[in-house]
Amino acid sequence: MSKALDYLLKARPDAMQAYFTFLKKAGEHLDPKTAALISVITKVHAKTANGVRQYLPRALKAGATADEVIDALLMAMPALGFSKIVWAIDVIIEMNLPEFAHVGKPATPSSATETWHEVAPLASLQEGDAKYFQAGARKAILTLNSGKIVVYDAHCPHKGNAIPESGIAEGSIVCPFHEWKFDLKSGECTAGGNKPLTVLPSKIENGIVLVKG
Ligand code: FES
Repeated sequence: MSKALDYLLKARPDAMQAYFTFLKKAGEHLDPKTAALISVITKVHAKTANGVRQYLPRALKAGATADEVIDALLMAMPALGFSKIVWAIDVIIEMNLPEFAHVGKPATPSSATETWHEVAPLASLQEGDAKYFQAGARKAILTLNSGKIVVYDAHCPHKGNAIPESGIAEGSIVCPFHEWKFDLKSGECTAGGNKPLTVLPSKIENGIVLVKG
């Protein structure tokens, strides 16, 4: 809280409590992500960098993606004006948040540059294995379940961060960034989120597992 708000809270406790109650009640029918995005917009409108630094992480924690934050800013252009949006983006860049690191880079290689990569001899794999590897530009996880090869893109469906090899646990894969957890057999998200891992194309040729990436 700013020094001024702190001062007013002491000088006019009843009025200020009513103000804070109003702010809390005003958004009670909004889901947390929408409410947090609106708070970010109000901080940009007031051009308070500290406010953006405080509320942007809340919006991300509530599930907003970097693209959603940018869309919210752009949609508010009639109220904010372009210069405040540029100012906000400068503040966001300075925050150096991993969620915004992918912006401007292709999320995945274009299919034109994708090729098949040899990963491992099929005979070397055992039931329940989870093998972490790099296929072209992609990090991936190969599993063998009930005799069937399944390869997951190791980039998290939440915000696209690369899940490291250490994220592979007994029967599951856990993304360390926001703790989304995925079932190793199905790729379904079992905790933290609601999107499954992406399955990459794979095939077996001459006893070798090949993955497209
Ligand atoms: S990037 Fe958020 S849980 Fe993986």
